[in-house]
Amino acid sequence: MILSASHAAIAQAAQALRDGHLVGLPTETVYGLAANATDDAAVAKIFVAKGRPADHPLIVHVASVDQVPLFALEMPEFANRLMRAFWPGPLTLILPRQRGVATASAGGQDSIGLRCPSHPVAQALLRACLPLGVLGVSAPSANRFGRVSPTCAEHVQSELGPDLLILDGGDCAVGIESTIIDCTRGEPVLLRPGQLTRAQIEAACGRAVLDKDAPQEVMGQAAPRASGTLESHYAPRAKVRLMAAQDITAKLQALGPHANNLGVWCTERPASEQGMGAGVLWRRQATTAEQAAHDLFGVLRDLDARGVSQIWVQQPPDTPEWEGVRDRLQRAAA
Ligand code: TXA
Ligand code: MG
Repeated sequence: MILSASHAAIAQAAQALRDGHLVGLPTETVYGLAANATDDAAVAKIFVAKGRPADHPLIVHVASVDQVPLFALEMPEFANRLMRAFWPGPLTLILPRQRGVATASAGGQDSIGLRCPSHPVAQALLRACLPLGVLGVSAPSANRFGRVSPTCAEHVQSELGPDLLILDGGDCAVGIESTIIDCTRGEPVLLRPGQLTRAQIEAACGRAVLDKDAPQEVMGQAAPRASGTLESHYAPRAKVRLMAAQDITAKLQALGPHANNLGVWCTERPASEQGMGAGVLWRRQATTAEQAAHDLFGVLRDLDARGVSQIWVQQPPDTPEWEGVRDRLQRAAA
């Protein structure tokens, strides 16, 4: 059931987490499926609900930097700087894990992913949890494994059913998942791009950010498993094709009225109404990376729900601020 995020609903959700239940949680990036991070049985329910393999680690969400030492063993200075620069906000740090803490959430790895979300409802819930002994909340995106992440409460309900308690925090402002930086390998390593650009991250921590596929001798240790880094992920049912704008125009012209069951996400309305055919659903792609990220998963989900068999997506610009959107689109198309 979807509850508007009043004080009473937040208190109810905090109790539910303390009692070992799952909660649908709004964050500024995407909605999460939350459980008490230190309750292994509750965390196990997340893996079942999502259909996610149990060795894929979850991110632990904390109210502030004060909770970090409860979960992380130690932290390099550059990680400290990143936290100070971007928390609360859409940044997850992978740190060495305290022994015996949040074991199920970590999916068996010796590291832990930590994030302090800025969404006011997420903040309120995390703070309401502390006096109940819930010191952190594990939350992957609240979608079935491999599917598109939810960016509003209704998406969560359509993924996970009517029994789940979902706090309604409105539309997610960012729209794509947090940037993930691995801080366990001596140098910052970008595991998943998001809204923050590399340049912003490098400026904040004073180090070059390595790529996750940088040669192993550069990084010392093998890369951890991360489902957000699987090649095919974030996939709608429809087949997604990334295309140049002029190819979309040319192909639509060639098909003319025969175009059928087709979704198109591009910056310019492709042709006159009659030329496009009734079988084409067009959605406008924003020209700023920020707005396009905000719209991305909602557009894919909406076109999917209308039963299109293909979604043609205009290839976004090759500039740094689009890295997160390009990454999600490449996985959706893989
Ligand atoms: O924006 C977000 O990060 C959202 C919201 C709900 O906070 N959460 C999210 O969670 O995207 P999820 O589980 O869908 O993606 C988390 C990613 C996965 O690719 C996971 O493998 C990786 O983080 N991850 C978590 N803990 C890790 C660890 N200890 N080592 C390496 N990767 C880790
Ligand atoms: Mg996910």
